[in-house]
Parts: sequence; C-alpha cells; structure tokens
Amino acid sequence: MCGIIFFKTADLVGIRDFYEGKLGLKLWQDQGTCQVYEFGNMRLGFCLADKAESSGTITFVYADPAEVDAAYTRFRDLATSRPEQSEFFQIYHFWARDPEGRSLEFQCFIDNVEPPREQAEIIVLNPDQTKPKLLLTRMIPESGIKKLKQVFEVHANIADLVMPRNEVLNRISEMDALLCLLADQIDREVIDQAKQLKVISNYAVGYNNIDTAYAAEKGIAVCNTPGVLTETTADLAWALIMATARRIPEAESYLRKGKFRGWEPLLLLGQDIHERTLGILGMGRIGTAVAKRATGFGMKIIYHSNRVKELDFEAEKVDLPTLLSESDILSIHIPLSEESRHLIGAGELAMMKSNAILINTARGAIVDEKALIKALQAKRIFAAGLDVYENEPQLPQELLALPNVVLLPHIGSASLATRSAMSELAAENAIAIVQGKQAPARVV
Ligand code: DGY
Repeated sequence: MCGIIFFKTADLVGIRDFYEGKLGLKLWQDQGTCQVYEFGNMRLGFCLADKAESSGTITFVYADPAEVDAAYTRFRDLATSRPEQSEFFQIYHFWARDPEGRSLEFQCFIDNVEPPREQAEIIVLNPDQTKPKLLLTRMIPESGIKKLKQVFEVHANIADLVMPRNEVLNRISEMDALLCLLADQIDREVIDQAKQLKVISNYAVGYNNIDTAYAAEKGIAVCNTPGVLTETTADLAWALIMATARRIPEAESYLRKGKFRGWEPLLLLGQDIHERTLGILGMGRIGTAVAKRATGFGMKIIYHSNRVKELDFEAEKVDLPTLLSESDILSIHIPLSEESRHLIGAGELAMMKSNAILINTARGAIVDEKALIKALQAKRIFAAGLDVYENEPQLPQELLALPNVVLLPHIGSASLATRSAMSELAAENAIAIVQGKQAPARVV
C-alpha cells in the first residue's frame, strides 16, 4: 500500500523535465495525462489540468544536513533561501520553487535536544597523598591546573559537563580546597559535608553561587577572579550594544536567507550609538571599563552606584529612576544579591525610553526575565542584548522567538587569554589560603 499526493499541472512535459530531469526523481507511473514520481517512500502525482495548482509545500526529507547541503549545491539556481536551522522547528532546510511556482522544501530533521549527559569522570590528575586535596569541578585552562598540581593532589572532573551535585556532596568531605564554577551551587548542604575544607575558589568574579556568609561562619575562605576579566567582559558588553543597536544578527540572517535585494532606504533601521546617553548600573570595574569605551563614541555617560566614583572621564551619578528614564542604552554591571534580584522589573522597564536598549552581561536574575519578555514583545523598549539568564542554561521559548533581542551563551569573559588568567588567579587563591598566606582575591 502507498499514498500519493496529487497536484494539478498545466505542463506535464515541463513537470517531467523538472522532477525527473532536474531533481532526479524516479518516474513511477505514467498514464498519459497523469504522472507519478517517487522520492524515497513519497509518491508525488501530477495530473493535467487547465491551470496549475501551486498552493502547499512539497518537502523532500534527507537523512542529514550534509545531504541538504549537497541538494543546495545541485539546486542552487532554484533556491529561494540558503540552508539553515529553522527558528521554530528542529529541522535544517532551504526553500526553492518549481517551474509552476510550487514551494519546495529540502530538509532533514535534527536532534537539537541535548544528548543525555554522560557521567562525570573524576580522576586524580597527580596522585600524591602527601599533598592537600583539591576538588576541581570541571577542567579549566592548563596554566592554572599546572600551578594547582604543584601544591595539591588534584581530583578533577575531566568530563565535559557540570559536576553532578551528588559527586560534589560525596567527595567534599575529604577535600582541603574546592575550585568550582558559577554553575556549582555551593550552599549550606555542601558546606556542611565539608569536614576539612579551607577554601572555595570560584572560577568567576561573581560568587552568587556560594553561600559566603555560611562559609565565613564555618571559617572557610571564599575567593573569586576579579580584575583579570574586566576588559574582556567590557568588550563583550560593547559587542552586544552594537549588535542590538544596529540589528546585526537580524541583518546577517536576512542576508543569508537570500532576502537582500539591494540597498533600500528603510531596510533594517536601527539606533545610533554615538552621542547618545549610556547609562551604567553599577560603576565598578566592568561598568567603568564599559563607560570608558563610550567616550570614544562621544556619548553622555550617567551612572547609578552606591558611591560617587573617581573617574578619569566625565560621568554623572544619578538616582535609579533618572538612570532608567534618561538612558538610551542601559548596561547592567552590579552583582546579583538578594537586594539586586529583579531590580529591573516591569515598573523599571516601563520607565525606560521606548527606543532604549537594555544590556545585561552581569547576572540574569537582576532582570525579571518574564517582565523583559513582555516589554520586548510589546516593543516597550527597542531591544535587549543578553549574555546571562535567570535559569541558565534554560531560556524561555518566548525569549528565543523574539527578533529584538540578541542572545549569547554567557561568554562575557570567554577569550583565550582571559580564561587562562582566571585559571591562574583561581589557582593562586586556593594555594595562598592552604599555605596560610593572603589570597590575591578573597571575598570572605
Ligand atoms: C563571572 O566571572 O562572574 C562571569 O560571569 C564569568 O566569567
């Protein structure tokens, strides 16, 4: 048994030239005024009629993206888009048209769902029972690990995944030091399991993943990696500013989809950056580095911070409502704490200009993500550029579907040089504490 989808055609000869000759489908039945072709287990029939019927889509399904690419190379002259991953479905595809204007789609299904995570694989990198033990929850750049190995017996999760919590809980009791990531929740439960832990060295400047107060109560030092990532993170904040203001990802995807028909007066109009007002929420190291870059764009800089800052460029300290209502671009650079959680919610977003841009490279939960989605959906503000999210790595579908937001996977500090510098600093912090010295960057 098989099924056939029939279309009306005004030109059986042309159809045969196209589907058999050009696309290489096999002629399965020829009944004079009706021809049927086959493609895998699909049957496609064309019956002679006065007028062609061109509504609907004929979809050719391939096994993998390489076959879709190969089809694109063969049928490029028919294509109306380039191969790409669909924004809405788990498919990789491109579009084309047949000579009678029918829509053709060449696609394969892709499995975008995260493959089930493998087990953590924890090994001792340098067995040496005379050394204090350090648990490294995930591999970091080699330069830091080299330093760690000189002082510690390093128990490292060498699998490419976040160390499962139960592994941390099971192993922490015999560790003298912990070098962890911002994805590791080092809370009371973990700290209570630690019997001889002296230091929690976070491989990040932000340390909202650690219960610092409880660690301090237990006499455990907490360290982080400030300074070394300042400029790299400021660079990325600017990448987001430019990408959102000038709609760079949207414009690039427009071109790749084959939509570019030449210069157009109203095509992809964005926002200017130069001579506008940059608002900085939190004029700390990174906020200052972001603001300093704005002087090159002739921007007016305003900021909201606990204290007036001594700066070597002009910037005005303002209250939060003024920052919200006067910024053309608002960039967030405060740490996440109970006070700053959802500091930017519906009310605050409503105070922003309708053409304002919100940039967040700090921590996702500083912004009420649901309120932000609503504001973007309603075009209450022009756009947002985000590197961080409330529940990483989960992102709401509604956010992914929005065109007026640029989304990055928490890569603020992700340059080769900076991640190595962070690795070394995190190692130096752990080493200093177990050696009873002053750590380069101790939080508590
Ligand atoms: C940090 O250090 O807190 C960043 O978010 C990751 O580099």
